[in-house]
Amino acid sequence: MLSNPSQIILRNSELFESKNVLLINFESDQLAKDLLANAANVTALALDFNHYQQLESQQSSRLQVHFGHQLPNEQLFDCVVVFYPKSKSLAPYLINLAACHLKQAGELYIVGENKGGVRSIPKQLPAYFDSATKLDNARHCLLFSSELIASAPAIKLQDWTSQYSLNTPQGDITICNLVGVFSEKRLDEGTKLLLEHLPSLQGRVLDFGCGAGVITAALLKACPQLEVESVDINAMALAACELTLAANGMQAKVYPSDGLNQAQGTFDAIISNPPFHDGLNSTTNIAAQFVQDSAAKLKAHGQWRIVANRHLPYSDVIAQYFNSVNVTAENNRYKVYSNR
Ligand SMILES: C[S@@+](CC[C@H](N)C(=O)[O-])C[C@H]1O[C@@H](n2cnc3c(N)ncnc32)[C@H](O)[C@@H]1O
Repeated sequence: MLSNPSQIILRNSELFESKNVLLINFESDQLAKDLLANAANVTALALDFNHYQQLESQQSSRLQVHFGHQLPNEQLFDCVVVFYPKSKSLAPYLINLAACHLKQAGELYIVGENKGGVRSIPKQLPAYFDSATKLDNARHCLLFSSELIASAPAIKLQDWTSQYSLNTPQGDITICNLVGVFSEKRLDEGTKLLLEHLPSLQGRVLDFGCGAGVITAALLKACPQLEVESVDINAMALAACELTLAANGMQAKVYPSDGLNQAQGTFDAIISNPPFHDGLNSTTNIAAQFVQDSAAKLKAHGQWRIVANRHLPYSDVIAQYFNSVNVTAENNRYKVYSNR
C-alpha cells in the first residue's frame, strides 16, 4: 500500500521515463521499486531508519537504498523527488541537498500533503531553482516541479546547526542541534525534569531516542566513564548527537535503531524521553512496546528512568512489565517514572 504522496508520484511516473531518479525522505512503502517500471535507475535516501529497513531488502543493480542525512557519494541525477518533511524547518535543507545531486537543468519534484507546508513551496524555493510549477493535486497532496538553473552551495552541517549552552544539574554542556530535530532551539521541559532527577549510574547505559544528545551529554558530564549508547530512528538526530558529543569532547556509541531493535545485549540503565507518536502507531502501542522491550534489555538490578507527558498511559504498562510503578518526580505537565 502506497502512502498518499507516493500515489501521486506513481500516477505521474511518465515524468521519470528512462531517467536516473533520486528520492529523498521517501515514505514507508515500495514506491522506489514501483518506479523502476519507468525509471532507468532509482536511488532512495531515507532519513527514517524504519523506512530504510522497509526497502533495504529490495536493493538491486537498479535500486540503491541509503540511510543518513546525506548520500555517501556525490552522484548526480536527472531528477530528484523530495518528500516534504513533517518538520517544516527541515525542508530548506532537503531542497539544498536535492540541488547538490541534480545535473545542470535537472528537475526537482516536491510532493507533500496539502495540510503540510508544501503549499508554500513557490515562496520557499531558493534562487538556484526556477519558479515552481504545480503539476498535480490529488490524494490530498500537491506535486510541484522546478528546474535547477544555477549551482547550489555544498551542504555544510554547521550552516544547519543551532548551538546553545545548557546549565544542567550535571554541569554546563553545549548542545548542537540540526534542523528538524526535537527541541531544535531550546531544552524540552520534560527532558529538563528528567535531568533534575537522574540517578547516579555506572556501566552500560542506553539513551533511547537520543535526539540531539542532551541526555547523553548530561550523563557523560556527570560520569565520563559511562559506556553510553545513543540510538534514534532519525538521521538528523544522530548527526546532531555526534555534533553535541564532539562539541563537549565526549564519546558515545551513536547508531540508528527503530525502537530498541538494534540495541544488542543488556544494559545497566535505560534513560529516555521517549517518542510518543510516529504518525502510524497509537501512543499506547508505542509506550507498551518501549516498556516491554526495555524491561527485556535491562540487567537484573538495572535502572530504568523515563519522562513522559503526564497524560500518556504509561502507568498500567509499567506495572505490567516492571511489577510496580514509581513516580520519582512530577509537575503539572510531566512525570518521571522509574523501575525502583
Ligand atoms: C521526545 S524526543 C527526545 C529527544 C532527546 N532525548 C531529548 O530529550 O531532547 C524522542 C526522540 O525519539 C526518536 N524516535 C522516534 N521514534 C523512534 C523509534 N521508533 N525508535 C528510536 N527513536 C525514535 C525521535 O526521532 C526523537 O529524537
